[in-house]
Amino acid sequence: MQFEPGSGGSSSPSPSGNSGRSATPRSRAAPPPPLHPPPGLGDPRAPSRREPPPARMIKGCQNECMGGGCLGEMGKQMTESFKASDLIITPATTFKEKPDPTGLVFGTVFTDNMLTIEWSLASGWDKPYIKPLENLSLHPASSALHYAIELFEGMKAYRGVDSKIRLFRPTLNMDRMARSARRTTLPSFDQNELLECIRKLVEVEQEWVPYSTSASLYIRPTLIGTEPSLGVKKPTKALLYVILSPVGPYFASGSFSPISLWADPKYVRAWKGGTGDCKLGGNYGSGIYAQQEALEFGCQQVLWLYGEDHQITEVGTMNLFLYWINEDGENELATPPLDGIILPGVTRQSILDLALNWGEFKVSERYITMSDLTAALEENRVKEMFGAGTACVVCPISKILYKGKHLHIPTMENGPELTTRFLNKLSDIQVELLDISSCPLPLAISSWFSTTNQGSGGGGKNVDCYSTLSFLDLIILLAC
Ligand SMILES: Cc1ncc(COP(=O)(O)O)c(C=O)c1O
Repeated sequence: MQFEPGSGGSSSPSPSGNSGRSATPRSRAAPPPPLHPPPGLGDPRAPSRREPPPARMIKGCQNECMGGGCLGEMGKQMTESFKASDLIITPATTFKEKPDPTGLVFGTVFTDNMLTIEWSLASGWDKPYIKPLENLSLHPASSALHYAIELFEGMKAYRGVDSKIRLFRPTLNMDRMARSARRTTLPSFDQNELLECIRKLVEVEQEWVPYSTSASLYIRPTLIGTEPSLGVKKPTKALLYVILSPVGPYFASGSFSPISLWADPKYVRAWKGGTGDCKLGGNYGSGIYAQQEALEFGCQQVLWLYGEDHQITEVGTMNLFLYWINEDGENELATPPLDGIILPGVTRQSILDLALNWGEFKVSERYITMSDLTAALEENRVKEMFGAGTACVVCPISKILYKGKHLHIPTMENGPELTTRFLNKLSDIQVELLDISSCPLPLAISSWFSTTNQGSGGGGKNVDCYSTLSFLDLIILLAC
């Protein structure tokens, strides 16, 4: 989900090189997890999660695994997934006019085609279809409509300066989607097969990827429970679909527009044991009321707080970063740890990966409370604060309204050097391929995508893929 950016702001200087010390995570309120995503986020350094767990019986499992015992959801994934090689493509024959991406309001224009894949407990996944975009026909009792059994993802296809179309680290989105599916009892699927279906859809719609390095094609994979009964239970029917929407530049003026935040602990986005670390529709609908109140207070987005000590968690629908001189006098880039209430953002992970790779300042997944922040502001220790997400990459923060007081965050006065450096670096990777040659991390022609192609017959000519084991999962979709 993206919100409209704010107005105002200034343009950015060149990247900086900040001196710094260790890259060891630290904590105040509780020990943070290590600098790795949680199981399922898709850290390429972690052992493969596609390996099946040891055979055992899982109570209540309905997956009917064949041989080798019960494999739970993983068994379902292994024994039963749609296949990209089964795709049936009957594309639109009439075409909508493609809009000028610079004037687009987010998510209002859709391409001509969509991907749909139906699932039922009785017969598993159906074949995937790419067909003209159309309204869905749902039973009025569908569980997505009544109990929010629904999840989604948000990713983008970029057209590079070389005119090739790429996705940015899409395996992380697929991993997150699979985790969301597990959490909301929707059926599992083979992530590589879904990614290949998405690749194919983007290939069909390639002319919709804006011929611009500042605009892109937003990809919205969605999985909904279509159980046609009012029982509150795991759905026996589901629909996976993917729609595409061209989006314009987030910062329309071409320069950063810092945002103001409203921080009030009376609303909570996510809680321990809840679903805040998954991308479920219910997490977002319930936040709109607070967002409206933020607007009434003259602020653009909500700064989500948590707990008695008013921990800073996320900003609107973005992860949050603070670049400051910490209590020990160290230059530190800090973001809250993935402790269950934070969405593991792809951009967040990429910023951590980049910063750790630069090794110029301390990089921490740690708790930050409002009193940590106010103390640092009083002592002039805050350098920059920004949100991070697919929509904007990074978004500087200039003001927080907290307990009736306007806190000024000096992000823009400080360049913002680091925020700009992240924006430039990540944008360059997405559209200019600069990192393919200059990335200091190991770079290899991906085995991942070629395996998929061989396995399921995706292997279209023009398909190529680069990735590194530790940072880039860039897919060159097709040469135009
Ligand atoms: C709550 C929340 N946090 C963070 C993010 C950023 O995630 P990503 O970088 O994967 O876009 C999003 C993305 O929509 C989000 O909804």
